[in-house]
Amino acid sequence: MSAPPPRRVYFRTFGCQMNEYDTGKMRAQLVADGFVETLEPEEADVILLNTCSIREKAVDKMRSALGDYRSMKRNGKSVTIGVAGCVAQQEGQKLLDQYRELDLVFGPDGVPHVRELVKRAIETRRPVLDTDFLDLDAYPFVSDIDPADHGVGAFVTIQKGCDNKCTFCIVPSTRGVEISRPHTEILDEVRALVDRGVQEITLIGQNVNSYGLKRTGELTFAQLLRAVAAVPGVRRIRYTTSHPRDMGDDVIEAHRDLEVLAPQLHLPVQSGSNRVLRRMKRFYKREHYLDIVAKLREARPDIVLTTDIIVGFPGETDEDFADTMSLLNEVRFVGAFSFKFSGRPGTPALKLKDWVEPAVAQERLATFQARQRELSAEWMHTLQGTVQNVLVEGPSRHDEGVVCGRTGTNAMINFPGPVELVGEWVDVRVTRAFTHSARGELA
Ligand code: 5AD
Ligand code: SF4
Repeated sequence: MSAPPPRRVYFRTFGCQMNEYDTGKMRAQLVADGFVETLEPEEADVILLNTCSIREKAVDKMRSALGDYRSMKRNGKSVTIGVAGCVAQQEGQKLLDQYRELDLVFGPDGVPHVRELVKRAIETRRPVLDTDFLDLDAYPFVSDIDPADHGVGAFVTIQKGCDNKCTFCIVPSTRGVEISRPHTEILDEVRALVDRGVQEITLIGQNVNSYGLKRTGELTFAQLLRAVAAVPGVRRIRYTTSHPRDMGDDVIEAHRDLEVLAPQLHLPVQSGSNRVLRRMKRFYKREHYLDIVAKLREARPDIVLTTDIIVGFPGETDEDFADTMSLLNEVRFVGAFSFKFSGRPGTPALKLKDWVEPAVAQERLATFQARQRELSAEWMHTLQGTVQNVLVEGPSRHDEGVVCGRTGTNAMINFPGPVELVGEWVDVRVTRAFTHSARGELA
């Protein structure tokens, strides 16, 4: 008698790197349980959506996808549908009430026991809901390696949750309080990844700079950076996300001392206006931010910066927005993610009265993005004609016979070359720069 065919699971991930990472951890656990991943929802026995609630748009996208999968079920397909992540945490039972075809709803803290949750959803014929936050002292970070982690780079989570209360942000309520992962586990995961050929590690958390501060005897973030840098085989380190308030001198010194720490930093500023920063409860001023930038550039002259900006925060005046534009011009970010303020359920900013007209917010966003595009392109053009050392990541998605690699400053360069170069560090002469990437040739 032949074995029954394996069950197939389809993942769809919305939102940030943390969600991508969580999906990877779910994949690792379900594959260990005998599941096979499929890239076609029509073929799946289990569909899992890992959702994001950071802005209304992300929630809309997820609802539209869920609508499609629910139609498949209504049309007779037998499939278990689960919603995980931040929307699940936030809406819980409401989602189950709204979508009768849903079998499973669980928040980010459900990830460590996804196996059991999926099993329960398949076996019991009733919808399963799990939005409990797990125990602070014994939070089970998942160490199984994502089977899809066979590239040259991988993420490693160092903490979960966030203790800040930025007034616009829903994360503290969907991901719970900040918990740092023990550094021994982090280093074990880094070693396991290096054993699989990974060379570039990106440490992730909601506010990495406060790593370890709540655990007695734990390393600080700067010490953790040094410990990861000391793991043989780690050739490049990045990290995200940092909070400017917690960006200490010790981390800046790590940028000075550690060659493997990439000369690139994502440091969300959110606004250039002190008045808006205060209303956002960010607890730093524009001057402090500029001071960190100056220190970083002194410590590591080739460092480039990217940021996150919110325009149209309640009460933002033309003058406040002008402060954001002047900060942009002063720092000259090489890239920025910029968003219109989106009022999120349960956040303090939702209660502010003086909302910016949507058309005004839209115009500010367009103004910001146009200037940022210029700055990004100007920076990319400074690379033209230079020789850059890149770690080759894989074949280009668009052109056959072309591979792509990234510089330490995170610039993507496409150049003709065989796939055998993947994983190699090569020198590439930049022949043509665009806004977000460049063309080159082996030097
Ligand atoms: N509206 C708009 N942008 C937001 N962000 C977080 N919450 C909101 C919101 N309510 C942005 C911030 C953050 C990034 C991940 O998303 O800029 O740094
Ligand atoms: Fe949200 Fe602020 Fe925490 Fe970042 S630091 S996750 S913006 S509350």
